[in-house]
Amino acid sequence: MRGQVALVSGGANGIGRAVVERFLAEGACVGVLDRQPDALHDLRAEWSDRLVVVGGDVRDAAAHEAVLDATSQSFGPVDTYVANAGIHDMWTRLEDIPTDQLPAAFHELFTVDVLGYLLGARRMASALRAARGSMIFTASSSSRYAGGGGALYVAAKHAVVGLVRQLAHELAPDVRVNAIAPGATATGLSGLSDSEVGRGRLDERPGLMDRVAETVPLGFVAEPADHAALYVLLASATEAPFVTGAVLPSDGGLDVRRSGRHHRRQRMSGASAAAQT
Ligand SMILES: NC(=O)c1ccc[n+]([C@@H]2O[C@H](COP(=O)([O-])OP(=O)(O)OC[C@H]3O[C@@H](n4cnc5c(N)ncnc54)[C@H](O)[C@@H]3O)[C@@H](O)[C@H]2O)c1
Repeated sequence: MRGQVALVSGGANGIGRAVVERFLAEGACVGVLDRQPDALHDLRAEWSDRLVVVGGDVRDAAAHEAVLDATSQSFGPVDTYVANAGIHDMWTRLEDIPTDQLPAAFHELFTVDVLGYLLGARRMASALRAARGSMIFTASSSSRYAGGGGALYVAAKHAVVGLVRQLAHELAPDVRVNAIAPGATATGLSGLSDSEVGRGRLDERPGLMDRVAETVPLGFVAEPADHAALYVLLASATEAPFVTGAVLPSDGGLDVRRSGRHHRRQRMSGASAAAQT
């Protein structure tokens, strides 16, 4: 990726951070937008050159403007945009969301996980057209299967697939638009904060990842870095020049789960559901 300039939202932690570090290791220059100043500071301290960080919220159009300006002023035209910042609903079932809290919970989940991607894509589109670059969205196994979240998260991650397809259509032939769909990954993915439901973090649930690993055909939960090379592949105009509108799974083989075993375990522990975030 030497000579490439990439922008990553939610790049201060988890999967986004692994992508940022891999892009830097591959020689790219990278701009990061995230709302966690301490984590941004750590990242900046570790990688002082070829990296700019901007604090802001993906629900704010001005934040996307700011990170694009900062990145292109430092390194030149941006050719790769990774939309990745997201939150989860901690598997909150629809019937467990009080009706009066549903609008606020929907608003928070969908504005971060869907509007955040739309605002970023809207801002980056013209720059990427000029560079004949690519967009890569972090989707999820919840973009394909039920049970990896509650109704809000699963619906939002399904929406990301629609977004990838439509933008691949709208931006062709100038910009390739694809997604990576990770399965269960050991991160501190956060829940909601604006309502009383769906709060918490993935890594606050003791033993969850061990139980989840038993339901994944390959037998383990991913580390964030396990997905990073797929982003490098999709960002490459020479290695993936004919790929657009694709959603690549990186989920340990959820599609080939043995259904009897899967269903038995799901009834017993609920862990299968958690395998798909
Ligand atoms: N962890 C998993 O099991 C898993 C599986 C499939 C998909 N995903 C998806 O991967 C993406 C990254 O999640 P992660 O697991 O690395 O979690 P994470 O919490 O480690 O990283 C998410 C990053 O996004 C940032 N962020 C969240 N909301 C933001 C906002 N409104 N504005 C700016 N930054 C914001 C956070 O500060 C954080 O740095 C998400 O889209 C998530 O849905 C995660």
